[in-house]
Amino acid sequence: MAGTAAYKSLETEKPDDLDDAPITEDDLGAVYEDPPPKLTAARTAVCAAAVVVGAIACIFVVALVFHHGMNVDDGAEKVGAGLFLVSGTDVLLLLRNSKHNDLTWGLPGGNSESGDASLLDTAKREGREEMGAVPPCNVSAQILTKRGKKQQKHYTVMVCQVDASARAAFQPKLNPEHREAKWWPLQGLPPPQQLHPVVALLIQDPGLTRQLASALPPGVLVASNATLAAGARAQSPAAELDNETIEKRSASMLLGDTGRVLLMRKVKHGGGKWGMPGGSQDSKDVDSLATAEREFRSEIGEPPQHEVKGQIFVRRKGKHGIKLHTVYLASAAAGAAATFKPTKLDDHHEASWVNLTDAVQMDAAQLHPILAEVLGAENRAALTAAFNVQL
Ligand SMILES: *[C@@H]1O[C@H](CO)[C@@H](O)[C@H](O)[C@H]1NC(C)=O
Ligand SMILES: *[C@@H]1O[C@H](CO)[C@@H](O)[C@H](O)[C@H]1NC(C)=O
Ligand SMILES: *[C@@H]1O[C@H](CO)[C@@H](O)[C@H](O)[C@H]1NC(C)=O
Ligand SMILES: *[C@@H]1O[C@H](CO)[C@@H](O)[C@H](O)[C@H]1NC(C)=O
Repeated sequence: MAGTAAYKSLETEKPDDLDDAPITEDDLGAVYEDPPPKLTAARTAVCAAAVVVGAIACIFVVALVFHHGMNVDDGAEKVGAGLFLVSGTDVLLLLRNSKHNDLTWGLPGGNSESGDASLLDTAKREGREEMGAVPPCNVSAQILTKRGKKQQKHYTVMVCQVDASARAAFQPKLNPEHREAKWWPLQGLPPPQQLHPVVALLIQDPGLTRQLASALPPGVLVASNATLAAGARAQSPAAELDNETIEKRSASMLLGDTGRVLLMRKVKHGGGKWGMPGGSQDSKDVDSLATAEREFRSEIGEPPQHEVKGQIFVRRKGKHGIKLHTVYLASAAAGAAATFKPTKLDDHHEASWVNLTDAVQMDAAQLHPILAEVLGAENRAALTAAFNVQL
């Protein structure tokens, strides 16, 4: 989606709209595309065949990946694997009791041994040694992490989903390598210095975080309790979303810098409504954060260095579920905003830093409906926490 078009679609303007024409809730639907057509019997059959072919291809790919992981691990001097056991929105971490990384929370796992048939075997064998047993789980992703001066320590994290009954039945019996086992909320993990380096890397390296996010329930942000805004955590969106069917996703980024936020509007006859850079998720986006960043890039230019501090979910009822718009509250790194110059805006749009205290006082009529909701009273705590401004 081209920059201008994306922004227009978020503003939901028709070409002949007047700038001050009211935007209705119905208009919001225009952010998203039409619902998918119903499957006919013939299509169902074709799809079923495709699923079978797909499954075979998938097994083949998984086999290749394992093969690669075990035998062709270029540059690896140390190969290991661990289990990232996820239950709902929690992950099981173990508090270490060892010379290395003592008192950090890490994953059950360890180094590969020659008898291990696969990296999953390694992870499960180590899990059994350390916890007495491994709860039944389904692997939803495997993520290769590389550490060390020469990136020579390769540790593969198996993200494995444990259902509620398996979790309830599981009582880890720890061997002396660990002091404690605890299910931590993914959105409130201990601060990075209290995490084992592999787990710290998973939540700090953007590439790894994205791989992890795509293996987790939609909308779950993996974060340390020290960095994620208290307000955003309190919303606990993932739990709420568990049972909802998400029909369409879209996302935007609210970029903040020392009490100001970056907003966009049309420049014509005194300016249009204020909004944020954003748009609909496309099939290439690995997650909603990728959507928000891609849209920012195409509409305004390369975003200054930033850190996501929280998120706000805006929901609209659709025909087949909900339309979910995720707004990422991102804070620009110190000094990064000062040198940041928008590059992609066209003649019809402007971007401005707006005082956040003033923005929350604006009349809703001056704001795009999504932004009006984001700046509304129910989100003040999240904004305050993310942007460090008393509102
Ligand atoms: C694994 O997936 C299957 C099929 O979706 C499901 O029936 C089963 O409960 C899952 N097992 C666990 C432990 O999550
Ligand atoms: C975050 O987790 C750490 C690790 O246990 C804990 O000591 C700290 O109190 C927690 N902080 C918050 C704000 O919950
Ligand atoms: C989701 O549905 C299950 C089963 O109907 C129910 O037990 C659970 O409480 C629901 N969760 C939420 C967050 O509504
Ligand atoms: C924003 O405006 C408020 C009052 O409207 C003022 O107190 C505050 O200093 C302003 N912040 C910035 C960053 O200009």
